[in-house]
Amino acid sequence: MLLKGKKGIISGALDENSIAWKVAEKCKENGANFTLTNAPIALRMGKINDLAKKCSSEIIPADITSIKDIDNLYEESTKALGGKIDFILHSVGMSPNVRKNKEYGDLNYDWFFKTLDVSAISFHKVMQIAEKNNILNKWSSVLGLSYIAAQRTFPFYSDMAEAKSLLESITRSYGYRLGKLSKTRVNTISQSPTITTAGSGIEGFEAFYNYAEKMSPLGNATAEECANYCVFLFSDLSKKITMQNLFHDGGFSNTGISEEIIDQFS
Ligand code: NAI
Repeated sequence: MLLKGKKGIISGALDENSIAWKVAEKCKENGANFTLTNAPIALRMGKINDLAKKCSSEIIPADITSIKDIDNLYEESTKALGGKIDFILHSVGMSPNVRKNKEYGDLNYDWFFKTLDVSAISFHKVMQIAEKNNILNKWSSVLGLSYIAAQRTFPFYSDMAEAKSLLESITRSYGYRLGKLSKTRVNTISQSPTITTAGSGIEGFEAFYNYAEKMSPLGNATAEECANYCVFLFSDLSKKITMQNLFHDGGFSNTGISEEIIDQFS
């Protein structure tokens, strides 16, 4: 029960494959109380109701790019949970260019801005409004999800690579600020390719998933394993870990080549 008595907000659970879905289940198992949030349009799918029931959580709709919606999310969450917040999960990503198969050399710039707003600047909004509304407890933990395309080029990842770089930069900058203000830690987990709606929306995802599996000495990290790592990062066991991008990828990021890949080319 690593999170006994802790209060949180979990965004991004769309269906049972979502990383956020698994995080919610693990947080519940570990004794946390939390609200669930997603974009109003995603809530229409209705699946999240099953999760809410299982976790005894309230669902509060919020478009994570809207300051008004985040304001409301915090007001309703602190009311529902009966106090200030100990952890926030930002598990949101979306690129209209990727969705509509726009090539990197032919990006629609309005959509590019949308990618950055939804997938990265929203992380800043989540923290800025938390600061302004003073909703974070001392020693709270804010977590986002990133991908190694922030450091290295993966052609199919398109403008999401820029979004993840920005996300990781905001993590450092706001991590410093919130550390000083409320001892809050801010980190991203850089997760292995994972079969979810957002993941499999990327072109050639399956081939890349299999490649990463063969490149990683421990194999790809699953959504459930990611959820366990999130629980640790929300718990008091990780109090001094902040402003980091933490690779959770079975060793992929430090592997030059694996024997399996060599065999395939011999
Ligand atoms: P998912 O598709 O289950 O979750 C993405 C969520 O973002 C959905 O619930 C969606 O409704 C929500 N969302 C989109 N626009 C929104 C908006 N304007 N306001 C509020 N919510 C909005 O996919 P997954 O994979 O669980 O994604 C979660 C995070 O993990 C994302 O940041 C993604 O980039 C990251 N990630 C995923 C990897 C993968 O291979 N699946 C690998 C590394 C990182």
